[in-house]
Amino acid sequence: MNYNKKSIEDIEVAGKRVLCRCDFNVPTKNGVITSDKRIVAALPTIQYLVNKGAKVILCSHMGKPKGEWKPELSLKIVAARLSELLGKEVIMAADVAGEDAKAKAAALKDGDVMLLENTRYIKGETKNDPELSKALADLADIFVNDAFGTAHRAHSSTAGVADYLPAVSGYLVQKEVSIMGKALANPERPFVAILGGAKVADKLNVINNLLEKVDTLIIGGGMAYTFAAAQGYSVGKSLLDESKIDYCKEMMAKAEAKGVKLLLPVDCVIGNFPNPIDGPVEVETVAVSQIPDDKEGLDIGAETAAIFADAVKNAKTVVWNGPMGVFENPTLAKGTIAMAQALADSDATTIVGGGDSAAACEQLGFADKITHISTGGGASLEFLEGLELPGIACLEDK
Ligand code: 3PG
Repeated sequence: MNYNKKSIEDIEVAGKRVLCRCDFNVPTKNGVITSDKRIVAALPTIQYLVNKGAKVILCSHMGKPKGEWKPELSLKIVAARLSELLGKEVIMAADVAGEDAKAKAAALKDGDVMLLENTRYIKGETKNDPELSKALADLADIFVNDAFGTAHRAHSSTAGVADYLPAVSGYLVQKEVSIMGKALANPERPFVAILGGAKVADKLNVINNLLEKVDTLIIGGGMAYTFAAAQGYSVGKSLLDESKIDYCKEMMAKAEAKGVKLLLPVDCVIGNFPNPIDGPVEVETVAVSQIPDDKEGLDIGAETAAIFADAVKNAKTVVWNGPMGVFENPTLAKGTIAMAQALADSDATTIVGGGDSAAACEQLGFADKITHISTGGGASLEFLEGLELPGIACLEDK
């Protein structure tokens, strides 16, 4: 994929109406934003556009309203937080590309900032409906995509709109693509990738693609139990995708053929899945070959964590995507914490992608010790798969 795309610095924005797609899909609880990381990450581009005297029209989705006007998914709370961060008013449109948005966009003065309502309030958004793309484009003269977290979606506001306007990248998209792109294309070695998370099925192509690039591939989390089954172990009630056992065997063979070290858990923390997820849980640690029929693996064990951490210690580039266990539960978070700690202690270039592992690093207070924590969950995963991201492919080449 070609990532040599034009950026906001390659186009004259002064006095122009600039439609800037951000990923303001922030987590909320009871109507309050619980992490403003994605809003903060969009500031450099917004501030640049404001300073250059552009008329800035921001847009984003939030959640999955599926074409319904759900008030709890309004972007008003984002406008309020953004306004605090910018220290200036953010004009909130009452619709997406309707009469109110048109009137407010037309009345903008140089340096003004406005925000459209949740793009997914309109059904056509996720279908990449040309009618919506055109209506969005009609509000502006230039399209800037700075929504890395949504770059894997071919929607009207992320890709379709680029059919009608000159389209360039913002600073966040540039930063994500250059850091992750360099790590994949030209990594300092040893290059270690750590994959976790619940399902092997979600990571099939990532495993395959990373085996072409890394020196060591570490697999933990729920997906490791399908690998354990492929090793011939019985895994009790652990997460298991029987249809992928052969695939895991294939990947193990591929790793061997390529001389890639594939590290799988040797021990694990077992118990019954806690309910609620962060509730009390009785656990013990056993060898992966000894999981009893009535228990499930819920985290990597201490011996595994030490082996994984040792591989990270000797690495020059580390990419991590997906937790090692049920990290929402303090008893079952130790493996994930050990990985976050290993990355934090490492001098390597460390890149964390994926919502859960990123959240783990932030919650544990390790964020500032990691080289780059991606704002993308699904997007960073697709990037690691080597897939073309439509929100980037649609931008003008340099
Ligand atoms: C994300 O949170 O990963 C992005 O905002 C994309 O959201 P989506 O999975 O609802 O498309």
